[in-house]
Amino acid sequence: MAMVELNNLCKVYKTGSDTLTALDNLNLQLEKGDIFGFIGPNGAGKTTTIKIIATLLLPSAGTVRVNGVDALKEPGRARGFIGYMPDFFGVYDDIKVWEYLDFFAAAYKIPKDRRPGIISDVLELTDLSVKKDAYVESLSRGMKQRLCLAKTLVHDPPVMLLDEPASGLDPRARIEIRELLKELQAMGKTILISSHILPEMEEFCNKIGIIERGKMIVEGDVKTLAQNVRGYQSITLTVKANAEQALHMLQQMPELVQTPSICAENHKIAEGSLQMPRGCTLQFQYIGPPEEEYAVLQALVQAGIQVRSFFTPETDLEDLFMRVTKGQVA
Ligand SMILES: Nc1ncnc2c1ncn2[C@@H]1O[C@H](COP(=O)(O)OP(=O)(O)OP(=O)(O)O)[C@@H](O)[C@H]1O
Ligand SMILES: [Mg+2]
Repeated sequence: MAMVELNNLCKVYKTGSDTLTALDNLNLQLEKGDIFGFIGPNGAGKTTTIKIIATLLLPSAGTVRVNGVDALKEPGRARGFIGYMPDFFGVYDDIKVWEYLDFFAAAYKIPKDRRPGIISDVLELTDLSVKKDAYVESLSRGMKQRLCLAKTLVHDPPVMLLDEPASGLDPRARIEIRELLKELQAMGKTILISSHILPEMEEFCNKIGIIERGKMIVEGDVKTLAQNVRGYQSITLTVKANAEQALHMLQQMPELVQTPSICAENHKIAEGSLQMPRGCTLQFQYIGPPEEEYAVLQALVQAGIQVRSFFTPETDLEDLFMRVTKGQVA
């Protein structure tokens, strides 16, 4: 049985005389243990979908089932299976971290004597034990985010809906959130997570769905998606010097499509010449046979180009994203 099942979900927002179709017959099925990366341009309909699953917004048409329960007919029961972390959330003033969690545990009808144990467990999981007695408003943004995640865990829900949980976090906090998600995955939870940090999504999601203008345009595991959508491998090359010579060589190679480009952030064009304080990065796409890919590197090295790195990511979600989305908003 699917843990989350959306069938022909539609949502039309009405503001005054205007109508906007935010979701257009969206279908989705998540099995137990799936970590589903929900990606799409701004305004694509991710938050709308997540809010509908979380029973906070009614769809205009379609059905929603969570752990087998019809979330439109029995929202109260469905909520018991869901931990929801919104994209923007407020925290209350004059309340301590443990009180905040206690409040939500009470709201989920967890008996009073069980709450202290649960609170200390979720604090430990989110690495916030030291802040148990701190006031919520005194926490940093990343800590507030982790507290919000702790809050979604108090009733031990099998399904977690996380709307951009890592936005605004520093690299360490992001890595910590990622580790936490892996722990939750190991605990068998089904997680739907939206994020714009695509390399991270690629790392821990077993399924990806790309939504644009309310429609799921592609869905599946990242590797299969990449194979279906692209027919090439992207390569990132860093050279110590002679970037122009490398560029010229690459432009002559028939196995490369799309004109190789020198990444703008890595160089300044001053008086017509390239200045490369820390080397120069070039990106291009290879369409030749995968087993011959090494020949590109070999040719560069034989020509005396000082190659610092030649990187071919396994799959490149950002690239996939750019290829399938059109940048149109509803
Ligand atoms: N309450 C609302 N009233 C009217 N239109 C809305 C409302 N909420 C969202 N929309 C519109 O619905 C569309 C989808 O918005 P949604 O917030 O679901 O996008 P999103 O994919 O979460 O985007 P982002 O990546 O920016 O968070 C947008 O065009 C948005 O303007
Ligand atoms: Mg959103």
